[in-house]
Amino acid sequence: TRPPSPTNTHPPHHRPIMTTDLIESAKRAACQRAVAEHFDPSFRYIGIGSGSTVAYVVEAIAAQGPSVTSGMQFIPSGSGSAALVRGAGLSVLSIPELLALASGSPSSFPGVTNRQYIDVYFDGADEVDAQLAAIKGGGACLFQEKVVARLSKKFVCVADSRKRAPRLLASWPAVPVEVAPVAADLVRLALVDLGARNPVVRTKGPGAAPAGTDNGNWIIDAPFAPLLTAGEEGEAEKGKWTPESLAAAIKGILGVLEVGIFAGPTGPQAKALGPDAAGVRP
Ligand code: 5RP
Repeated sequence: TRPPSPTNTHPPHHRPIMTTDLIESAKRAACQRAVAEHFDPSFRYIGIGSGSTVAYVVEAIAAQGPSVTSGMQFIPSGSGSAALVRGAGLSVLSIPELLALASGSPSSFPGVTNRQYIDVYFDGADEVDAQLAAIKGGGACLFQEKVVARLSKKFVCVADSRKRAPRLLASWPAVPVEVAPVAADLVRLALVDLGARNPVVRTKGPGAAPAGTDNGNWIIDAPFAPLLTAGEEGEAEKGKWTPESLAAAIKGILGVLEVGIFAGPTGPQAKALGPDAAGVRP
């Protein structure tokens, strides 16, 4: 279940309106470029994120054939991407299985430092700023996505040009936050204290029950004013949030498992991007 807006059918006015065919070909082009630039036949462990875009990453990798992919294992960031990987005939390794392998057989991961066992992680995003900080969690998989990103040497964020924004939350409506159901109201109040306007528990539809995550939790979509981006940090003194400062503040709320702001504490590793963006962040 997605947050109330935007969707392909109800784009906000500041997102370019594209036909479904154009959107799909832009997604495919971004993914083909991402795989051409960041996938290597020598890799053994590949992280696969969630959402409709990353399906084209799987398509592009599977197209290389079993001679390339048979020795590889694919770590999905959720049940949907596990099904996608399996459906493409690729081998799935869950996060716990990867961690068990790494602790039981460290020699299988030569040269790995900082527990970055996964060679590369491909994932989509809901919105990406000029420095490749991203909002994710439109598909409610943000926690596992953050775990897979953490375990990866490189995070390739694949997004078509609709997802670009000068600042996070300039076009995407809210920050997705995964919360323990028992504390959802407490978290909503604390998000309002941080400046969110009317944070809501995501539901399966209007008036329906909350939509659960793969972890049995709920998602709260918390609308904030657009965040600062690189070069605007001075404004933080006026009480405005940067991606990192808002993520840290939300993470500090009792009952929050994870927040859908992906902005590396070590700083972004930006690349020059075309209109169909394949961005890389550590
Ligand atoms: C799921 C995500 C997705 O990567 C994000 O929602 C983008 O999805 P799509 O590629 O379908 O636009 O973060 O939690």
